[in-house]
Amino acid sequence: AETAVRRDRFSGGPARGFLSSLAADEAIFAADLAVDRAHVVMLAEQGIIEPETAGEILSALDDVEDADHDALAEGEDVHEAIETAVIDRIGPDGGRMHTARSRNDEVATCIRYRLREDLLAVAEATVAFREVLAESAADHVETTMPGYTHLQPAQPTTVAHHLLSYEAAVARETDRLLDAYDRTNRSPLGAAAFAGTPFAIDRDRSAELLGFDGVVRNAMDAVSARDFLLEAAASFASLSVALSGLAEDLIVFANKGFLELDDDYASTSSIMPQKKNPDTLELTRGTAGEAVGELTGVATALKGLPRAYNRDLQRVHPGVFEIASVVRDATDVAGGAVATATWNESDLAAAAGDGFSTATGIADLLAMAGLPFRSAHEIVAHAASSIDGAADAAAAAAKLDAAAEDVLEESLFTYVSRDDVERALDPDVSVASRDSAGGPAPEAVRNAIADVDARIATD
Ligand code: ARG
Repeated sequence: AETAVRRDRFSGGPARGFLSSLAADEAIFAADLAVDRAHVVMLAEQGIIEPETAGEILSALDDVEDADHDALAEGEDVHEAIETAVIDRIGPDGGRMHTARSRNDEVATCIRYRLREDLLAVAEATVAFREVLAESAADHVETTMPGYTHLQPAQPTTVAHHLLSYEAAVARETDRLLDAYDRTNRSPLGAAAFAGTPFAIDRDRSAELLGFDGVVRNAMDAVSARDFLLEAAASFASLSVALSGLAEDLIVFANKGFLELDDDYASTSSIMPQKKNPDTLELTRGTAGEAVGELTGVATALKGLPRAYNRDLQRVHPGVFEIASVVRDATDVAGGAVATATWNESDLAAAAGDGFSTATGIADLLAMAGLPFRSAHEIVAHAASSIDGAADAAAAAAKLDAAAEDVLEESLFTYVSRDDVERALDPDVSVASRDSAGGPAPEAVRNAIADVDARIATD
């Protein structure tokens, strides 16, 4: 009779489909079974339900788990559908499963239970991606390439240094995901509708059975809080923004002929037979828009919600589960693209000195010889527009000397030898000289890779 009343309350009307979350709840089906089991075990341990009843409910839950999900009775949501299925199997005693809880604490617990898996899966993907970046970097410690600011040639660097810049960024994403995990990993179960329960429940016990680190203590907070979803969405968005930058760099490098993607990570054109397009990277770049949109959606849905539970919340988490899967795929694909790409070392080397990218190195050389850096900068700037690259070092040195005469009314070679100037115009020498911590010099990069490998091993 009790179930008939409840079913009647959800008996139809034009809003029936709109109210139901049953389809989206597929994502928390396994979580709901786990939550039901933990709650029932706790109820039995506390003497709130009979051990025999608990046993019957647990068997029924096993049976529901194995049965076709489509066979579940229609209901407002998975919580109701599973409860109905248990009652259908063992009779009214199945309804004791819902003692001392509400769907409000139940769904909040299910969301956290499911999201933990997503956060860990994405965090694992970031670690695997960092492994790829570190391995590719190790192969290219001495592969000199142009480094850019404003997408203009800036200073020579190496492929390893470039890739490690992304490893460092993605390492912070791993941290962010694991931070979000820690705050997600708390159990709201036992908060009931928001006001607790007169039953002598043990919230710590059900939390422990579900593998949570503890409980969300305040019962009203427990059912209302979705900031963990906001934080997870923010960490997915942050990761996808980092990936989008890497994807953009690789798209530009492919365009310049610096890099060739493996066929597995490229696409062709249906009309232009010669095309090899970096579609996987464009899709990776594109996921950032979705992830940021999801973050905005979550924040906007939560803004201004009153205490305690409101049905708006039903629409918040499904998109977060979805974006977790999208961002995880993007991370895996970006890793595959990097792992299998071929760097065109000769073109990279040829372009490394373009646009007089060693200019800073010349200024540094003069400053190390005792000139104020600003004066050194002025001399090199004076000659810069007439120096293209390192192709003709002798001619470039002569132009720099003329600039020194103009600016200082002294020869450049009062301060530095012609040989040193010509050497400093070589992009490889330029890279090797910048051996400060975190710089691109091969020795500094080898040290960085050792640190990165050690850190990845513990993450
Ligand atoms: N399907 C709902 C959700 O996902 C369940 C929560 C309880 N519903 C309610 N009307 N109090 O949020």
